[in-house]
Order: sequence, then structure tokens, then C-alpha cells
Amino acid sequence: DNGGKCPFRGTRIGGAVGSEPGNDHWWPNRLKVELLHAESPAANPLRDFDYAEAFKGLDLDAVKADIRAFMTTSVDWWPSDYGNYGPQMVRMAWHSAGTYRIADGRGGAAEGMQRFAPVNSWWDNGNTDKSRRLLWPIKQKYGAALSWADLMILAGNVALEVMGFKTFGFGGGREDAWEPDRVTWWGPEGWDGKSPYEIPPQGGKEGHPSQMVTRTIRWEGDVKDDYYDLENPLGASHQSLIYVDPEGPNGNGVPLDAARDIRETFARMAMNDEETVALIAGGHAFGKSHGMTSPDEIGPAPEGAPIQAMGMGWQNPNGTGFAQYTMTNGIEGSWTPNPTRWDNDYLTNLFRFEWEQTRSPAGAIQWKPKDDSAPKTPDAHVEGEEHPLMMMTSDIALKEDPAYREICQKFMDDFDYFSDAFARAWYKLTHRDMGPKVRYLGPEVAAEDLPWQDPIPALDHPVINGSDIPELKDRILETGLSVSELVGVAWASAANYRDTDKRGGANGARIALAPQKDWSVNNPAQVSKVVAALEELRDAFNGAQRGDKRVSLADLIVLGGCAAVEKAARDAGIEVSVPFTPGRMDATQEQTDIESFEWLKPVSDGFRNYHDSSIGYKVAPEQIFLDRAALLKLSAPEWTVLTGGLRVLDCNFDGARHGVFTDRPGVLSNDFFVTLTSMDYEWEKTDDTEMLFEVRDRDTKQVKYMATRCDLIFGSNAQLRNLSEVYAASDGHTRFVHDFIAAWDKVMMLDRFDLA
Ligand code: HEM
Repeated sequence: DNGGKCPFRGTRIGGAVGSEPGNDHWWPNRLKVELLHAESPAANPLRDFDYAEAFKGLDLDAVKADIRAFMTTSVDWWPSDYGNYGPQMVRMAWHSAGTYRIADGRGGAAEGMQRFAPVNSWWDNGNTDKSRRLLWPIKQKYGAALSWADLMILAGNVALEVMGFKTFGFGGGREDAWEPDRVTWWGPEGWDGKSPYEIPPQGGKEGHPSQMVTRTIRWEGDVKDDYYDLENPLGASHQSLIYVDPEGPNGNGVPLDAARDIRETFARMAMNDEETVALIAGGHAFGKSHGMTSPDEIGPAPEGAPIQAMGMGWQNPNGTGFAQYTMTNGIEGSWTPNPTRWDNDYLTNLFRFEWEQTRSPAGAIQWKPKDDSAPKTPDAHVEGEEHPLMMMTSDIALKEDPAYREICQKFMDDFDYFSDAFARAWYKLTHRDMGPKVRYLGPEVAAEDLPWQDPIPALDHPVINGSDIPELKDRILETGLSVSELVGVAWASAANYRDTDKRGGANGARIALAPQKDWSVNNPAQVSKVVAALEELRDAFNGAQRGDKRVSLADLIVLGGCAAVEKAARDAGIEVSVPFTPGRMDATQEQTDIESFEWLKPVSDGFRNYHDSSIGYKVAPEQIFLDRAALLKLSAPEWTVLTGGLRVLDCNFDGARHGVFTDRPGVLSNDFFVTLTSMDYEWEKTDDTEMLFEVRDRDTKQVKYMATRCDLIFGSNAQLRNLSEVYAASDGHTRFVHDFIAAWDKVMMLDRFDLA
């Protein structure tokens, strides 16, 4: 009996395509190799469309004029507060960008993921569905030439400008994703503080999936321990990563506790104290919070809303459900008397008045001035009505935390300095995940190079040509550096790339600079030996040129790897040419922000059988290995072939022979796969940690090789074993060599945005 309600709601069993129980249900810990293909181009209706070209063809001034005109309009189904959509657009843009996390580069504005679950349904994103729907006429007008991802950030920028703020710039070039992100692990907590496994599908109370309160972790007991126990190393964030609970951790109303959470959360977004204060004080100069209805009355979030809601959620039964009845977060009121004008009133009032706790109509903890003579703020809709100013516990935190307080004082004393700090922090927030500046498009890209863009000098000389390249390869091999050394260093230079925020990679030769040259995963002694030899060669080559032609260290490192791979293939009886594209430049130490690059350091890297045992892992090494493959944008066959190749080329970080299943190390044989798939061997763990294994001859019981989990996974996981079989088969060797070279070239070229 469904009480006459829609028979399809809440159906758990019933044979819909892909319904549970499936593989993930029966084997929750299985390696989800298929995630490497999660963002299949097949899902993208614009896959053959050149977005960059189309964006360049836009008249950005005309687009901005349309957005500007839209800001001060109002539609009946969602009227603008104060007659200006600006503040809600700023919040939408901030929430689009604020999911970024520096630990693995995931999140951020670059793919417009606010359009999809789970992000579109986070309680913290309440009513951003309205903001995007309001922008639809503009999106519709410009079509594919203006992605949602770009439009959301551009709307935030134009909103700030409409309200009198001078932004630092805007770079386009964010291409939309077309399906929910299945890869990112957002954290352990479920909705409303419960473990995701404790609650029914769609979250929360029956009929109230909107109660997906995704704030600070709300585990039973002492939540703080869990909160700070970063789930190393998969991610350093949690479901509430957009921001912290505005009412203080667990709604405790304690500003200093809120300050601690703010510092942690913003640091994960790569923001320091000054940037954090600039962003909060800058953002809350505008708009208001909405808390006119009890959260219990609010309808389901967009992803759980009924079909006739057409993708919009959080239906509010109070009054009209919008305008003066709006309920978004639960807190009610505005921070300033002029919520649609850029000024310093937020900070001035925060410090000028004593604030006392009160509650919003929806029951949330908030603060109001103790002094009744404090300025009031107008109602956003009702003419002539006024309200006391409002601060959130997280705002009071800026006044109470000593370090934040000092920054606030500086900002209050110098409004221009504050304006510049906010402009720069906003630019960083909204562009942080786009990678190098060469990827930014349009006439408003800021000219200044900023340290967080990991700058690399622009190419300023002719590059080596078709006759130099073979000659240089010969000279590199004549240095006496081994295949393993050359491949190891080239791989180390390129393989810290992460496609999530387009950082890292071989360009810039940062492998020769701190901090990368000192990471144990890179084998510092080997790096220093290879770099010294290649620098000598570079100087000799460049010194011998009559014209401006130069070769960079970055190019020589990659070329060395290519020469070594060719030699290894030749030694295996296959003559091949490994593609090489010159034009990389060398960065300087001054251009390299050591602290920010430290985040690229792998804590575990199966490609080189590296696993930092000082870390208390919560996941198995092969899971982290899968994550690294995903960061390198590899398919499962590419991941497999690269691992098998690096093993026989003897590229473990410490020279250990784990997984080097060959009697001919340094030769590009398919021995890794032949051994892995052979029943001539038995595989036994060396102890109960199940981290190291002996590979014994099944007859003699002699130990032939040693192996790690990151080796065995290619024989034990069904999907990877089937790929290993392709390369282990009698016709597999040539295929292996060619596939290895193609995958190798892909990795070497991942960061060559300068060519596009
Ligand atoms: C509104 C919390 C940081 C810009 C809000 C609201 C909350 C909130 C609860 C009310 C939402 C609603 O009910 O409509 C916080 C917290 C932050 C933070 C806890 C960090 C500690 C920021 C930042 C920006 C920003 C960094 C932008 C740079 C805004 C704007 C609004 C807003 C413009 C007004 C939206 C509107 O008028 O519709 N914030 N916020 N906030 N926030 Fe923040």
C-alpha cells in the first residue's frame, strides 16, 4: 500500500537498469577499474566541437552586457532580492569553485559539476538550482560557445562588477562535464551526520531527502577526531568542503571553533589566512542569508525531487515559497545596510558593535548587534521594512581569532588594499583548477603571472630539429646512463601530472628543483646524477650553436627517456621510434612555490612500487595506484601496459626488484605479463600485512621473484588480468611494445598545453 502516492517513488528493488544489488553491493572493496573510463567521450554531445575556438569567437563584451542587464531584472518565479540577482550569482560562483581541494586537485569550477549530483543536491548548495535556471536564457542564447562552467564564473564576476567591485580578470576555457562525477571520493560522512550506510536511499527522513545536511561531520561522539583525521591519502576533504557550518561546528555557536574549521577548510582549498579573510569579508559584503522556514518543511533536494519539479529542488511550502519567504540555509538577514554595493561595511560593523546570539525564524543560531542604534538593513522585498544586521558564528570567528583579527584590522585601515586582496583571492579561487595560464581564454585574462599558476617561461628560441634529435639521443646514450636511470628520471619528471587541476608534468624541468628533486619516490641520488649529466650535455649543445637554437633540460630529460625506451625495445628485438615533441622550457626555483608543489608528492605510487610506510593508510596500495592512473588520465590498458613496461625496465624507486619478473632487466620484454599469468608459480604473502609476496617455482618451491600488491593486482583483478593476458599471449610482445610507447608518449605530452 503506497497510500495512493506515485508508485515509482522510493523503489529499491524492481529491476531498473543498473539497480542494486550489483557488484559494488556484493564486493564493496573491489578495485573499480572501470572508473578509469568514467568520463567516456560517448557521453559528450559536443565531443567533436572545438570549445576554445568557439569561445574565442564570442564577443565577450556583448555576453557581459547581457549578463549585466539580467542582474537587475526580476522574474516572478524567483524574484531578485533588493532587485539585484548579483549576490546569489556570487554565491553560486563561489560554490562552483569552492569544491576545489589541493590534495588531489579534484573539485573546482572547471567542469561545471554543480549541475550534477551529489554537488547539485548538497544542502550547502541550496537554491543554487534557481541561480542556474535564471541564467538559462543567457546560456541558451550563446549555446555551445559558452559552457555552463564558464558562465557560472563569468556571472559571478559580472555580478561583482555590477555591484561596484573591480575584478582582477576572467579567463574562459572551462569545458563542461556531461555526467555526474563517480570518481571523486568526497569523504566518509553521510547526510545529516549519519554513516551513508545507515540511511535509506535518497537520504534523510522518509519524504524529506532535503535533510541532507552536509556540514561538519556529525558522527556520534567526539566528531573532531574524525574531522581532522584526513583520509590520507585519497583526499583531504569531506562532504562539507564548500564551507564550514556557519553556526559553528555541529551548530555549537562557538566562534573560535568555527575559526579552526575555517582555517582547515580554506587551507584545503589552497587559501592562506589573508586570502581566507579577504574571501569571506569580500563575499559577505553582498546579499543575505535566507531562513524563513523550518528545514523540516522543505522538499527534496533536486536529485530526489519529484519528476514534475523538472530538476529543481527544495520546494518551500511557506507563503509563496520565495522572496520574503525564502529558505536556503536557515540563517536570516544581511550583513550590511547596502547589500548590493561594494563597501567596507561588513568589517566595520563586525568590529564596531558587540554581537549577541539569537535565532532565525527557522531556528538557526545567528548574531545581532547588542546596540539597538546600530544601522539596520532594508528588507529584500517588502518596501519600508527594516531588520537588524546579522552575523553568522563563522563571521564572528574573524573577529575572535587573533590572526584573522589582525588581517581584518589591516583591511579596515586600507580599503584599497582589502579590495585588491579580495580581487586576487577571487581570481585564484575561480581559476585555481584550470592549470597553466596558457589554458585561459579571452580578452580579460590578467597579464600578471601568479605563483599558484606554476609559471613556466614562454618559448623564446628555435627548438631542436629532425637532425639534432637523433644526434642528441646518441650523445645521451653515450653518457653511460642506464636505461633504468634515463627512463626512471623521465618518468619521474612527467608522472606527477594530475589532470584534475592540470598541475605537474615534465615541462619546466621541475624535477631538477626543490621540492621534487628531494622526494624519495623520485630517487634523489638518481635524479641528481641524470640531471647533472644532461645539464652538461645541454650546455655543450647550446654553447656550440651559432644561432638562437637551444635545447632545454626539460626536453633532454624526456628525450633521454625516449632514447632509452628505443634501446630497450631494440634489445628485445623490436626496432621502433618513440615520438618526441620538443619545445619544453625550464622553470626557475623562484617560479616554483615549494609549499604548493609539495601537494603533488605521491604518498604511494605503484608505478615505481613506492609506498610511504610512515603513513597510516586506510586503503590498500592498489586503490591509491588506481587513483594515480586516474590522475594521469590513463585507460585500464594504458595503465596495465605502462606498469608492465616500467617493471621490466627496472624502474622501482629504490632499485628493489619487486615485480621485476624478468632475467633481462632493462629490456622491453613482455616477461612481466608472462610471469604474472603463468601457473608455473605460486604466490605467497611474506607476513600478515599482505604487502609483500614471494613468487615461488611451483615444482622446486624456490623463490624466483618478490612482488608487491601493486604487481599482483594485474594478475588477481579480473579486468586487469584479462588485459595482462593480451600482452602475455604469443602475439603479445609486439603489441605490448607499441602500446607501451603510445602510453609513454601520452604521459610525456600530458602537460603540453603550449602546443594546443
Ligand atoms: C551567503 C556561509 C564564505 C559569498 C551565505 C549564506 C551562508 C554563508 C550560510 C546564506 C545562504 C542563504 O541562506 O542564502 C558562508 C560561510 C563561509 C562563507 C560559513 C566561510 C566560512 C563565503 C565566500 C564568499 C561568500 C568565500 C564569496 C567570496 C556569499 C554571498 C552570499 C552568501 C554573496 C549571499 C547570497 C545571496 O544573497 O543569495 N554564506 N559563506 N561566502 N555567501 Fe557565504
